[in-house]
Amino acid sequence: MSNRLATSIGSLALKNPIIAGSGEATMTEAAIRAALAAGVGAVMSKSTNEAEGAKKQLDHTDYMLLDSRWKPIPWSRDAPVDAQLFCRSGLVQEDFDVWVEKLARLDKEAEKMGSYVIGHIILNDVEKCAQMAERMQEAGLRAITVLVAAVHGDQAAKGAIAMIRDPQGIRDVVGTLRRRIKVPLWIKLPGQTEDVSLLAAAARDAGADAVNFIDRTLAMVPDLATRAPYLGTIAAIGGTWSLPIACRWLAQTRKRLGPDYPLIGTNGVRDGYDVARMLLSGAHAVEMTSAVMLHGTDVLRSSIEQLDGYLAEQGVTVKQIIGEAADKLTAYTDQPVRPGLWKQFVHPEAVDPVVK
Ligand SMILES: Cc1cc2nc3c(=O)[nH]c(=O)nc-3n(C[C@H](O)[C@H](O)[C@H](O)COP(=O)(O)O)c2cc1C
Repeated sequence: MSNRLATSIGSLALKNPIIAGSGEATMTEAAIRAALAAGVGAVMSKSTNEAEGAKKQLDHTDYMLLDSRWKPIPWSRDAPVDAQLFCRSGLVQEDFDVWVEKLARLDKEAEKMGSYVIGHIILNDVEKCAQMAERMQEAGLRAITVLVAAVHGDQAAKGAIAMIRDPQGIRDVVGTLRRRIKVPLWIKLPGQTEDVSLLAAAARDAGADAVNFIDRTLAMVPDLATRAPYLGTIAAIGGTWSLPIACRWLAQTRKRLGPDYPLIGTNGVRDGYDVARMLLSGAHAVEMTSAVMLHGTDVLRSSIEQLDGYLAEQGVTVKQIIGEAADKLTAYTDQPVRPGLWKQFVHPEAVDPVVK
């Protein structure tokens, strides 16, 4: 592949900006190896933490695909690109020491391929999280991500997942972790908050080397046939529609933090063109999770090729397009004045009363 794909997240140079995102498809050794073999810039391992409740949650998972009219569709590699994934997930059940040794071995393999396997923790107890991150660092992992408010946290067992969604809370947690962790520390942020860019600023100010966002959204989908909620619970949802929302936050965060602070985009990316869309919005690298669960690692391979083709066609590199569209955003008031344009959008049967 060409070096027009190269990017960096702070001190880490990535051969391309495509990251296999944290999820079921990065929870086994074989799955992580398959993602590395597909040529990704990095793999985000499935998250772990110390809480028994979070591990047990993995036995309560359920997954379904919905079409754009909320009808269930079969789980298949041929599912339409706009299929929405509605599901509950849980965390790694494997003994933490065994898991960390496995990740460290895989990261060594990744290094030989010019890639990375990133350690991933979902915050619960801050001290325990710091100890786990230290253990990952000692084992040799070269970067660690901590998700501070996982989407399932509100629904999971009590004491399994912390929900830090305010700037001061994020400053405190990241400050504690930063004092203990020397390797690059990336902080994953929730989407369900008033202003993601404020959380990103808090993470940066407390010493995070990069931020990734946005996590998925909690939802409830009623089934018309049974008149009950699909999957029986509130659960997380994502689809192609998530992409523009993530892009908006990438652009607004770039505006707040400046062009150099590394942002990692996630949510709604289904192919190499979507990766380009996130890069144009300000992402320095981009994660793909649902697409890999559904279509396997071929989608990583084809996305790298699509992105490379797009860049060649446009005559640009990844580094040149990061934030290009975001920087062209204007204010409503900067747009041309078009008096009366709105009248075209009143439906035709709305007729003004005849004035006698
Ligand atoms: C089944 C499933 C499990 C996930 N598990 C994790 C996780 O353990 N840790 C994490 O940070 N994100 C997790 N995520 C979130 C994804 O990494 C990603 O941010 C999100 O799915 C949006 O991106 P996508 O549209 O590419 O799937 C999970 C997502 C799914 C669908």
